[in-house]
Amino acid sequence: MSLISYRSFLRGFASATLLLASGAVSAQTTQGPGDDREGYERADYQTNSASLMSRRGIEADLLAVIASPPLGLPPVPIPADNPVTAEKVQLGRKLFFDRRLSANNTVSCAMCHIAEQGFSQNELRLPVGIEGKSVRRNAPTIYNTAYLDRLFHDGREISLENQVWAPLLADNEMGNVSIGVVIERIRSLDDYVEQFANAFDRGPDMQTIGMALASYERVLVSGDSPFDRWFYGGNVDALSQSAQRGFEVFRSKGRCVGCHSVTQEFALFSDGQFHNTGVGYFATMRPDDEQLEVPLAPGRIERVESDLTRTTGTENFRDLGRYEVTGLPDDRWKYRTPTLRNVALTAPYMHDGSLPTLRAVVLFYNRGGVPNEVLDPLIAPLGLNDRDIDDLLAFLRSLTGSNADALVSDAHAAPIGGS
Ligand code: HEC
Ligand code: HEC
Repeated sequence: MSLISYRSFLRGFASATLLLASGAVSAQTTQGPGDDREGYERADYQTNSASLMSRRGIEADLLAVIASPPLGLPPVPIPADNPVTAEKVQLGRKLFFDRRLSANNTVSCAMCHIAEQGFSQNELRLPVGIEGKSVRRNAPTIYNTAYLDRLFHDGREISLENQVWAPLLADNEMGNVSIGVVIERIRSLDDYVEQFANAFDRGPDMQTIGMALASYERVLVSGDSPFDRWFYGGNVDALSQSAQRGFEVFRSKGRCVGCHSVTQEFALFSDGQFHNTGVGYFATMRPDDEQLEVPLAPGRIERVESDLTRTTGTENFRDLGRYEVTGLPDDRWKYRTPTLRNVALTAPYMHDGSLPTLRAVVLFYNRGGVPNEVLDPLIAPLGLNDRDIDDLLAFLRSLTGSNADALVSDAHAAPIGGS
């Protein structure tokens, strides 16, 4: 069977199954969150995830944000040597979803940065890469990475163009043994020849692969949230009373704005700096023989040793944060302040995904984080009452961008390998 007819066969099969299962194709949504695993301990648990075959996406005008950034965000910084073009974005999007970029054709960027899960992963605290190997940090969102000067939780990389080589080469992510191997593989794939020529006038190489992926990521800009329409747009009805009070808590009693910055012109919700809130300290100091409950399948929970070094074979699974980049003792357990835009879509939270919900995060701050010798001075018990906490949560949930769904739908329209 030719590839094309095989594909239409699969499509037909998928919609026939849908008809059988739900009685109507329209009952199947094209997007939607993955599993939050609520009720996972029961054997009759039902998944929320749509199958790959049943997803239907609509392409978005991805370049629109370059001409005019969404409300609440500054112009998108574009490096002089990699201007954004439609051809590069198209190519980068195809690469992002292509599992053939991994050593054994199993892992794509999009499998850890899942579009409908806020371009992060809702289902796993720590991602799983090639051959089932664990990764030691939580997958951050790709929304608004265009604005980051320092990439990764510890800020060890400085451009999207360079960053791509870390997952491509990590032996627990995409598992390629060298840059050359990746370049040769992509050169050998016929369906890329024309797209690279159109985008760069040259073939796949170390620069063009990074530039294409970076161009796609750079346009995943998401703002114009209910908060933005209220604060920057002057629409008094755009934000609930509770979320408005929550913003006050965020700015005053909660001290949040000290690190998750908001200015009069725009809000990145990050100062781009590194801070110790105690999350990393807590994980490092956890006793090695502590047992963890791991939900293996609906209704099946196993207790395992928490010592990850034993299960992953990675010698240093412990995490010292920014210290690993600078070697400065004061940088122990510091992590880059993450943005809070679209934060309602990106559970679980913190660099190790250790806090499952936004409520858990707010309670963590209210307790004063986890005290340690290098705790950030802004982190201290806050004395928030129940109403403050609910208001703060309403505020955090009001930060979802109006185009977030459109970007997910566009991702679902992306060709996946070979097409
Ligand atoms: C196996 C899971 C996995 C795969 C595959 C993966 N990533 Fe990631 N990604 C992560 C994790 C985990 C981090 C954070 C790592 C850290 O901070 O040390 C991350 C961080 C990033 C960041 C930095 C975001 C920020 O806030 O600093 C970008 C950008 C990114 N990935 C893009 C990509 C691209 C492009 C690909 C494909 C070439 C890819 N990722 C493949 C898990 C993955
Ligand atoms: C001292 C600086 C600082 C202050 C003050 C602060 N944060 Fe944070 N915030 C951080 C850092 C750093 C992280 C990442 C920690 C990690 O990854 O371990 C973070 C993580 C978060 C996250 C998780 C985001 C994600 O994607 O994982 C949320 C939500 C959050 N903060 C909300 C708040 C709120 C609400 C307040 C006020 C009550 C607050 N923060 C105060 C620095 C700060």
